[in-house]
Amino acid sequence: MTILNIIRFPDPRLRRKATPVESFDESLITLKNDMLETMYAAPGIGLAAVQIDILKRFIVIDVSEHCTEPRCFVNPQLLSHEGEIKTDEGCLSVPAIYEPVTRYQRITLKAQNEHGEFFELAAEGLLSVCIQHEMDHLEGKLFVDYLSDMKKKRIQKKMEKLRRETM
Ligand code: NI
Repeated sequence: MTILNIIRFPDPRLRRKATPVESFDESLITLKNDMLETMYAAPGIGLAAVQIDILKRFIVIDVSEHCTEPRCFVNPQLLSHEGEIKTDEGCLSVPAIYEPVTRYQRITLKAQNEHGEFFELAAEGLLSVCIQHEMDHLEGKLFVDYLSDMKKKRIQKKMEKLRRETM
């Protein structure tokens, strides 16, 4: 397995829209394993392929306490939503920043697994929030887009400073 390089905000590559996965072959299994390893190593609870420069509608998530429930969502589609929940969100592409974002409390969605099989899932709380956050990545959207312009600019400055320091 390989640990992949995660693109960081404000890199414009994070703004591209991902395209549907059409071929379910061995490379998708490798992608899933590499993305999970990258996410666990970060450490994080969700990662979208866009974040590692692969423009596919492909997401991995594990919100369990001890990294025992890896999930994979291919071509996810929201079917319904209910209620609201406000939680502090972070993102592996925006390291060390946590800000409150309001999302749907409960969602149902349809997706495919890495073998192309369709499934439906009802999610609430952290899992629901995480799925919505990762699905935003597929549209080129980031959680900082929900914040005020002032806050977003401040975060962008911080990220650019961090990048200069680590170069
Ligand atoms: Ni993210």
